[in-house]
Formats: sequence, C-alpha cells, structure tokens
Amino acid sequence: MIIKSAEFLCSNTQVSKLPTPVLPEYAFIGRSNVGKSSLINMLVDKKGLAKTSQTPGKTQLINHFKVNDKWFIVDLPGYGFARVSKSSKEKWEKFIRAYLTKRENLQCVMVLIDSRLTPQKVDLDFINWLGDQGLPFVLIFTKADKQSKGKTAQNVELFKNEMLKQWEEVPQLFITSSEDGSGRDEVLQFVDEINSG
Ligand code: GTP
Ligand code: MG
Repeated sequence: MIIKSAEFLCSNTQVSKLPTPVLPEYAFIGRSNVGKSSLINMLVDKKGLAKTSQTPGKTQLINHFKVNDKWFIVDLPGYGFARVSKSSKEKWEKFIRAYLTKRENLQCVMVLIDSRLTPQKVDLDFINWLGDQGLPFVLIFTKADKQSKGKTAQNVELFKNEMLKQWEEVPQLFITSSEDGSGRDEVLQFVDEINSG
C-alpha cells in the first residue's frame, strides 16, 4: 500500500462522540510505552503525527487518524502502567472495553507486544479477553531492533506457546521496528487485504 495521506481527525474520551463509522478502522493497543504511537507514525511515514514519549502513559485519549481517505487508525492509551491508581485503571478498562465491543467499523485489533520481554500476564489477560469477546486481532511485536533476531524469535515462540495453552491457534503475527521500518510492508499489506476484501 502506498500512503498518500495521513491526518489527525480527533481525540475523544467518550465512545458516543467518535467519528461516524464510515471507514474501516484498526485500533492499536498494548502496554504503556510498547511503541503504539511510534508504530503508527512509522506505518504512515509521518513523524510526529501520533505523539510519542519516553514516559509511559503519553496517549490518554482515543485518537483517530484518517489514512488515504480510506481507513481509520486509532491510537489508544496503553494498559499496565504501574503508576496509575486502581480507579483510573478501572476507568480505562471500562472505556476501552466499551470502545472495542461497540465500534461497528472496527476490522481488527492490533495488539502490540514488546519483543524484548518474555510473555507478560497483562498482555495474555487482555488477549484472552479479546478472544472471549470474539474480536478479531493480530499480534505486532515491537522494538525488534533492540536485540538479536534470535532473541526476538525466542520471545515470539514463548508467547505462542503461552497462547496455545488457552486457544487452539495463534493469530497472525508481525515483527516490527519503528526505528528501522521492518514489518511495515507486511502490516500495510494485511490492512490492504482486509480493506479490499
Ligand atoms: P503510551 O502512549 O504511553 O501508551 O506509549 P506508546 O505505546 O504509544 O509508546 P511510544 O510510541 O510513545 O514509544 C515509547 C518509547 O519507545 C519512545 O521513547 C520511542 O522512541 C520508543 N520506541 C518505540 N518504538 C520503538 C522501536 O521500534 N525501536 C526503538 N528502539 N524504540 C522504540
Ligand atoms: Mg502512545
């Protein structure tokens, strides 16, 4: 897919105020600091479109972007940020769950996993919830530039094995780096296939 345009549309805290669901939508979600906003910028080749930060918890709202006037990208706040209170964690969960289960144009949830880490409970819990809801999702391993290919492959394998304890199959997965652009073509092709499908 060639990216001709990518623009910011709006930020929201309320599901009722989201843009009219007229285009296919892809939501990027994962732990705080996993690299959601960076990956979005890498995919659309526009640095600074989605706000990134070294400090976890940067993205706080549901942010909509329109790509090629044909599809929506959604940047979501991260989960698993240790320094938030229990009540704001619950608020996050309610709001994200409402968004994910009610958004009728949502094609696929793009779940980002830090490729440097062994499987984390918070990611597996979230994925199990997605599976229980019957929501389509893929796994995108991030920050692959930070270690050897072998180490990444090892963590991916461990993650697959954890998933197979709960589910009969693993979803499609991608290995990416926002730093060197790896995985970009594969993710965009995946989106293209759904959009034209
Ligand atoms: P929140 O919005 O806080 O949930 O974080 P996020 O998941 O959007 O992460 P963000 O894109 O802001 O990136 C967090 C940090 O990781 C930043 O310092 C990025 O520069 C860095 N980062 C993200 N992706 C990569 C990557 O592929 N490689 C490397 N080396 N660093 C990355
Ligand atoms: Mg972010």
